Formats: sequence, C-alpha cells, structure tokens
Amino acid sequence: MRGKLVVGNWKMHGNLATNMALLQAVRDGAVELRSGAALCVPYPYLAQARSVLEGSNVAWGAQDVSEHDSGAWTGEVSGAMLADFGCRYVIVGHSERRSFFGDSDAVTAAKFLAARRAGLTPILCVGETLEEREAGITGDIVTRQIDAVLSASGMAAFADAVVAYEPVWAIGTGRTASPAQAQEVHAMIRTRFSDESAVIGSQLRILYGGSVKPGNAAEIFAQPDIDGGLIGGASLVAADFLAICAAA
Ligand code: 13P
Repeated sequence: MRGKLVVGNWKMHGNLATNMALLQAVRDGAVELRSGAALCVPYPYLAQARSVLEGSNVAWGAQDVSEHDSGAWTGEVSGAMLADFGCRYVIVGHSERRSFFGDSDAVTAAKFLAARRAGLTPILCVGETLEEREAGITGDIVTRQIDAVLSASGMAAFADAVVAYEPVWAIGTGRTASPAQAQEVHAMIRTRFSDESAVIGSQLRILYGGSVKPGNAAEIFAQPDIDGGLIGGASLVAADFLAICAAA
C-alpha cells in the first residue's frame, strides 16, 4: 500500500516570526496524523524548520536545488547543503521554475539527479498549461516532462521518488482539476512507469497540486491514483494544511 503524503510548498512567503507560529502549529497538530506530511520552506528558513520539526511527524525540504554539487555557482544551493539541514524532500521542475526561471526539461532532469546524489527525495512536478489542455495535448506534455527525467535518470532512480501533477491553470487560481480530470492524468503517469517496472509503478506516490483546499481535498484524495497533495496557498494556514492532511 502506498501511504498518503501531503507536502506544503510555502513558495516565497513568511518571516521568522510568522514561520515560528506556523511550524509549531503544524508540528503540534500533526501528532495525530496518519498521512505523511512535509513542508518545503524558503532556503533561509531551513534551519528554523529543522529546529521546530525535528523528531516530529512532519518532514521538511526545499523548493529547488542546484544541478551542480559544488563550485563557482553564485547564488546556487546544492543538494548536499539541503541534506546538511536535514531536508528529506526537494521540489524540482515546479511550473513557476519552468516558466519564470527557465528550468527546461533538461535542467529539471539534472536537478532531479542532483537531489538523488545527495540522498534527497525529489518531488518532480509536471503539468500542462491551459492552452495545452485546450489543445488536447495534456498527455503529450506530461509524458515529455517525465521522459526527459527518466531518460537521464533511469527507472531505478524513481524508487521512492514522488511525482506531483500540477496543472498550471489550477495553481493559485482557485480552479482545481475535477477529481476525474486529475485521476485521468495520474493513471496515465502511473501507467508510464508501470509499463517498465510494475513494482516502481505501483509504489510511486503521485501527488495532485493546484488549489487544493480543506473543502475539496477529500474528494481529490479519494481517487485511486492520487496519493496526496502538493499544497501552495493553503499550506500557509496551519488549520487548513492540517485539515488537508487529515483528509488524506
Ligand atoms: P496552490 O495550492 O496555491 O494552488 O499552489 C499549488 C502549488 O503550486 C504547489 O506547489
């Protein structure tokens, strides 16, 4: 059985004071959770996340990682540095990285590999734009995004990795994919993996992301191939994030 996992992506929000209240509330509220939970915080707050979450039910991670392991790469943060701060997870290929920072499929694949080299669990984000959905090429786009990583990493690198399907048109818009729309893409993603490795395909955790809220989480998470969520806005409110975790 795949366990459910709910990951918060704070994006570029917070400060020491607001984070402290949020981290403590999530840590304390997570005591009774049966799903896995994690928070991906901005780099400067990783030490704070560790200090509050260590020993709790809530893991932590980062929102990006350098494709390089060390060297003259001003402004970059390596996988080993994230591991040094106790990160378990790192998001790679988020649509905001892809569209605003030029993270191509190839760069995303390199970041996925860098995460694996550092012993981190990558959360590989994939998803189509509204234009692509309306053109009927959602499957092609998502397959291309996955295959770019698979061809660089090989199937074995996906053992215990996480994939997040985040339709770009549903991120921060209040528009969610319907449970059936999301399930259709999740099933396709799982089949892509199962075709090559039944074991990895059946164990792969595929999260849904895009305007998940306490009010719609249970219905989305009830779909057979949806193993939890990647939560943006609602992860900034402890009660909402915990309610979403409870729905998983
Ligand atoms: P929202 O939950 O705010 O739509 O963000 C989704 C997301 O991008 C998580 O990575």
